[in-house]
Amino acid sequence: MARTRRAFFCGNWKLNGSIAESLALATDVRNGVSSVRDVDVAVAPSFTALHAVAKRLEDGPVMVAAQDCFWEEKGAFTGEVAPSQLADAGCKLVIVGHSERRQLFGELDAAVNLKARAALRAGLTPIICIGETLAERDAGETLGRIQAQLDGALADMTDAELERIVIAYEPVWAIGTGRNATPAQAQEVHHFIRSRLAMRAATLAPKLRILYGGSVKADNIRALMAEEDVDGGLVGGASLSAESFIRLVKEGSAS
Ligand code: PGA
Repeated sequence: MARTRRAFFCGNWKLNGSIAESLALATDVRNGVSSVRDVDVAVAPSFTALHAVAKRLEDGPVMVAAQDCFWEEKGAFTGEVAPSQLADAGCKLVIVGHSERRQLFGELDAAVNLKARAALRAGLTPIICIGETLAERDAGETLGRIQAQLDGALADMTDAELERIVIAYEPVWAIGTGRNATPAQAQEVHHFIRSRLAMRAATLAPKLRILYGGSVKADNIRALMAEEDVDGGLVGGASLSAESFIRLVKEGSAS
């Protein structure tokens, strides 16, 4: 069955890589995926490498994403980076609400909403991450948690803004653990997310991309992508080697 939404894979490099290492990885990824058709690919280096990597990749096809942003444009906010600065550095996208930000840095849904809307104002595509913890899954609270995170992150967005977002479902228990959600578990939540989006904007929901994240690898991406509502992957560990990420992009876009 032909895909209705273009597959999208984003490598999240987290806190890894010097500028030189990031440039080398980005160059290898670009060379490896440039012949792959019908797919969008992005990489998210550390802040320090963003500009250099964006320059290296400016002739496409690989886009550059930041891993976080602040919601104010300028001012006395020591240590923060504005979405317009990310756009200036060459970013097209920004990850917001990653579970590591939520868990390690206390980021709340309201902040994720402010960040996503500020990113949209700066012309960036926010990749909005949501996902339940293992305790929430075991307590049967998965869908309730997803609903709360989704509603919180998307509050006050117009339809024109909603049209430009990407959602990433990342169960916290699957991130960096080697234990990915089964395709059926992913599909259940992705379908739920799309139904909630449809309640907000019925005509947009079928067009929005929902990525899965959490121990995605070349070996499991095909089965995940075979699910109706899984449109791509947000990839941590497996994006740190060009060889494994390229293989993942090829496998994922072929399915
Ligand atoms: P992982 O990380 O692929 O290493 O599990 C995914 C993520 O945190 O985005």
